[in-house]
Amino acid sequence: MKKELEGFIEPGSEEEKLIKKIDFSRLPRHIAIIMDGNGRWAKERNLPRIRGHEEGIKSVKETVETCARLGIKYLTLYAFSKENWKRPKTEVNALWKLLENYLRNEDKILVENNLSLKMIGQLEGLPNSVQRELKRVIDLTKNNNGMYIILALNYGGRTEIVDAVRKLFDEAKKGFDINNLDESSFSKFLYTSEFPDPDLVIRTSGEMRISNFLLWQIAYSEIWITPVLWPDFRKRDLLEAILDYQKRERRFGGLSPSDYS
Ligand code: FPP
Repeated sequence: MKKELEGFIEPGSEEEKLIKKIDFSRLPRHIAIIMDGNGRWAKERNLPRIRGHEEGIKSVKETVETCARLGIKYLTLYAFSKENWKRPKTEVNALWKLLENYLRNEDKILVENNLSLKMIGQLEGLPNSVQRELKRVIDLTKNNNGMYIILALNYGGRTEIVDAVRKLFDEAKKGFDINNLDESSFSKFLYTSEFPDPDLVIRTSGEMRISNFLLWQIAYSEIWITPVLWPDFRKRDLLEAILDYQKRERRFGGLSPSDYS
């Protein structure tokens, strides 16, 4: 077993059996997760919705640790969409408070484990205290390069594309020749310009939707949907997603090698 996983995976456990099947030379470089089902998890237990979000933080921590130990390079977590502002103010405020506390409590762990925090979305729309914490932790971890944790906050895929077009217009005014625009140069105007496209998108809670997440970037991503609600999502689920990804053949619109003969 990889040394990073020793002591983390119980010998003889279900997780150990799954790990043994993983091909470490073909890990997804970038995993992006739509963390859904916190509300339903709470409702099933007659608890307030916010208890579901609190429980979801445990899944965030376990997923971050598992990805880092496996050797995943980029992990994007859809934590707050532009549409989430429509929720009751108490829930919205509680979500921001949870995020702020997460950043306060996890900063040392991120530093000690060489993890770098990044954000995609519209920073200006966030509560001031969250903006401050985010900037602090992003700055604190900016030289780390073990794994990049990219939080999608106040994020919308369509807004991202509109924002990219605005930036493009600014560049065109400064002399950028629009005839030179192609998919690769357009990508540089997106929030995700520094990151590769996701190889694997995971959505919890069984909904078969993309919900305005990374619309441009997931053109050729593999999608894995599980009925498990986000607060119940554990390393076993992540390992199953990776194994399923490794069974697939990514053709990017081409043919299987055997079909060319
Ligand atoms: C979706 O569940 C989840 C969210 C809108 C928020 C996700 C946020 C967290 C897990 C906590 C903060 C994150 C980090 C990165 C520290 P839902 O409420 O839509 O569930 P439902 O569809 O069952 O109602």
